[in-house]
Amino acid sequence: MAQASDKASFSAEERQSLVESARLCEMIVEANPSDTGALETLKEIYTKLGDRERLGQVVRSMASLAGGRPAAAGASIASRPPPSARGASGAAAAGNAPPERRPGAMWRLGDRLVAEGLVTGEQLQRALVAQKGTRDKLGSLLVRMNYLTEDKLLSFLSRQYSVPSITLSQLDIDPEVIKLIPGQLAERLQVLPVKRNGNALTLAMADPTNVLALDDVAFFTNLQIQPVVASEASIRQAIDHLYGNQGDRVADMMSELEEAEGDVQVLGGEDEFLGKTDVFELKESADEAPVVRLMNMVLVDAIRRGASDIHLEPYEKMFRVRFRIDGVLHEIMGPPKRLEAALTSRVKIMANLDIAERRLPQDGRIKLRYHQRDIDFRVSTLPTIFGEKTVMRILDKESLQLDLTKLGFDPWSLEQFNRAIRCPYGMIMITGPTGSGKTTTLYSAINTINSPDINIMTAEDPVEYNLKGVNQLQVNDEIGRTFAAALRSFLRQDPDVVLVGETRDLETAQIAIRAALTGHLVLTTVHTNDCPSTVARLLDMGIPPFLVSSALLLILAQRLARRVCSDCKEPYEGDEESLLPYGHVPEGLGKVAFYRGKGCQTCNFTGMKGRVAIYEVMPVSQEIRDLILRNAPTAEIREVAQSQGMRSLRQNALQKVLEGVTTVDEVLRVTLG
Ligand SMILES: Nc1ncnc2c1ncn2[C@@H]1O[C@H](COP(=O)(O)OP(=O)(O)OP(=O)(O)O)[C@@H](O)[C@H]1O
Ligand SMILES: [Mg+2]
Ligand SMILES: [Zn+2]
Repeated sequence: MAQASDKASFSAEERQSLVESARLCEMIVEANPSDTGALETLKEIYTKLGDRERLGQVVRSMASLAGGRPAAAGASIASRPPPSARGASGAAAAGNAPPERRPGAMWRLGDRLVAEGLVTGEQLQRALVAQKGTRDKLGSLLVRMNYLTEDKLLSFLSRQYSVPSITLSQLDIDPEVIKLIPGQLAERLQVLPVKRNGNALTLAMADPTNVLALDDVAFFTNLQIQPVVASEASIRQAIDHLYGNQGDRVADMMSELEEAEGDVQVLGGEDEFLGKTDVFELKESADEAPVVRLMNMVLVDAIRRGASDIHLEPYEKMFRVRFRIDGVLHEIMGPPKRLEAALTSRVKIMANLDIAERRLPQDGRIKLRYHQRDIDFRVSTLPTIFGEKTVMRILDKESLQLDLTKLGFDPWSLEQFNRAIRCPYGMIMITGPTGSGKTTTLYSAINTINSPDINIMTAEDPVEYNLKGVNQLQVNDEIGRTFAAALRSFLRQDPDVVLVGETRDLETAQIAIRAALTGHLVLTTVHTNDCPSTVARLLDMGIPPFLVSSALLLILAQRLARRVCSDCKEPYEGDEESLLPYGHVPEGLGKVAFYRGKGCQTCNFTGMKGRVAIYEVMPVSQEIRDLILRNAPTAEIREVAQSQGMRSLRQNALQKVLEGVTTVDEVLRVTLG
């Protein structure tokens, strides 16, 4: 990819893909001339294509941006023909009016209502005062204040704008037509698709002069939009009715977004160019291109719902957006396949990836500021047979819980773990499948023991959060900075505590064990099923039993279980007996209360909200050391550990059912019997 301006070396397909990427970037720059990320990408593409003329324009734009004259930069690029993908009314959006447009239009609307004798001057004044600081439309407000009837307003608007008016309550709308626009978008724009006729879509709007809404719908559906007026209240009602209850939440989100205008922005990455922050202004504002707005909407929605991952997935005939919330995937929307390239490219630009590279997996990072919260998105793209799949892991520092006592430990396990992390040397291993909360437990442990008088060093892949006063190192296999290499160089830096993100090979395990035996506390993770079998894993890797037995301090296995939603939690009568078949050890409780979630808005009607960690903690006692030394079978180690107080993952999880924190179904889902 590095061979610059060697035109002849491109295949027609590669060339086409570069041209397409350039077109998308031009779109982004056109909407936001100070989008330096897009400009930088353009520079790279035009260099590759050897297009000196456009390269010159881009370089001039970048130079004038650096000199603080973004307007000139925009002009030089925007003078090129508008890209065709903007949809039927693309031209309307290109002429984005300044924000003052709306109040001005409303004044005139008010004056005209007075001129036609529909309201009095005094009523208009009162309505304008009431409207200040709200997002209400003047017309609807006048109706609500009983100065004007809905019918009169509608026929007035219809005459004013020369568009027909309709009464939504009398219409029977085809569900296929409703599907043309996702609920979120309809809610945000306050529009409703009413009828499709070939290439034309009739769209009910309260304000048919809202060119941005027209543009977004045209862009999304690729249809010609024919607006009709309907009352705001009836549109809202119809949206609620036809799209289900998802509306309110999005409306809340949008109003919050508007209040937070200027508050949501993407910060630059670590890279030198992006090091100057403010690379992307991520605003839900009028001057963004539709693809940018749509992507922002997805990102903000994910944050608001507390999602941990966003999946953008191409399939043969469709494109799908899913969120992982509390460990479970939910389908969010299915934008048209046509928008796949635009949305994927937008994410790649934000993450500072090579948008022309579609055949190799890439990793990057987006830093976003939302409501004074810094949120990181770890982005990874992967070519699949139907196109590039993008997954974004959301790393929200604010929601990061670093208090060991709040993660879900039972008192006995917490005491054991607390004792181990305060030992001057030895090895602590945390085990569990992907996404089971291992990093969170590790970070909480580090946070607990962190103090100015100890040197803590970490090798991670990737570094997920910056911990104050901790020396963190990013592992990078490509340049030979492996876990093993990092660990080796750490040992020359006089650490007290060493965290090794993952022990996945013999070499790393050997050095980690050596470090643990030479005066360092080593914390690391592995992927095994439970505590006792972790011993066997180390032996299988090739570490001699005497080293394993003397280095290990404690093993901790964990899972995450969803909590019963605290907003709709209700008790029902149960019996401790009913838990016995699942491995519960009876405590003579008899009749007990179990809890379940009825389902409410907060939990998206799933009855579950938030998660709690389930732990299995095995301190390596003298007896267990002896067993390891003798190469005893895993079952024997488990038996001795249980006799010394260890409770299995399943048993601890069932305890959480008795405490009303989670449900039996959830326990069976996340733990093995
Ligand atoms: N005790 C907990 N209670 C509630 N949520 C948790 C808890 N621990 C972790 N989480 C959440 O679960 C998600 C995954 O956690 P984490 O990254 O720590 O898992 P992991 O095992 O390190 O994953 P990976 O295998 O990808 O490294 C995060 O969104 C985190 O905020
Ligand atoms: Mg992790
Ligand atoms: Zn609920």
